Amino acid sequence: FDIFKFQANLINWYHANKRDLPWRKDQDPYKVWVSEIMLQQTKVDTVIPYFQRFITKYPTLQDLADADQQDVLKTWEGLGYYSRARNLQNAVREVVSAYGSKVPANPKELGALKGVGPYTQGAILSIAFNQPEPAVDGNVMRVLSRVLKIEEDIAQPKVKKHFERYTKKMISDEDPSAFNQGIMELGALVCTPKSPMCMLCPVQEQCRAFEEGVEQELPIKSKA
Ligand code: ADE
Repeated sequence: FDIFKFQANLINWYHANKRDLPWRKDQDPYKVWVSEIMLQQTKVDTVIPYFQRFITKYPTLQDLADADQQDVLKTWEGLGYYSRARNLQNAVREVVSAYGSKVPANPKELGALKGVGPYTQGAILSIAFNQPEPAVDGNVMRVLSRVLKIEEDIAQPKVKKHFERYTKKMISDEDPSAFNQGIMELGALVCTPKSPMCMLCPVQEQCRAFEEGVEQELPIKSKA
């Protein structure tokens, strides 16, 4: 498997095809953080207007830290999973008090913040700080399970760790942000759960599932 070819094809495709999303306008770690928390349980189309309202109301980390919690929850209203908003504000206050209002750029300190799990940690480190860290969500597991023909059950929590290891081996050192977002984008636009559009895929040539005609069979996800 030619990892460099995979990276190049994926990253070039991403730059040419990425959606113009409001959180892609700059690499401000605070905005990347807010967007990734919102995107965890909520679809992109739903998140867009909430993200815009939230950032207009709280343009900086400091603004969110200073805000009244009830106002923050009010602004979050409709997105659901309110613990996300509470954790986010508590973590932002921690960044203000413990790290001089700078989002930490290392896994240890980031991962210790409320609500920042392995996915959010990897997303912030790669997208905002250009570090080659995996950010594995359902999209990433679907794409990689097809490309590499991985037949592990993605419903099992420990399997995510395995995908983090595969991703760490494949991620680009040159442009980790475009690599991670490229896989997410490929999963959202082309390598979809049903009827993936393999004819439009930039890595079709390297996809084992496509080669064997089993793309619809993957990923394996048990209903426990
Ligand atoms: N889903 C999770 N993170 C995302 C991102 N940065 N862009 C698009 N979809 C996403």
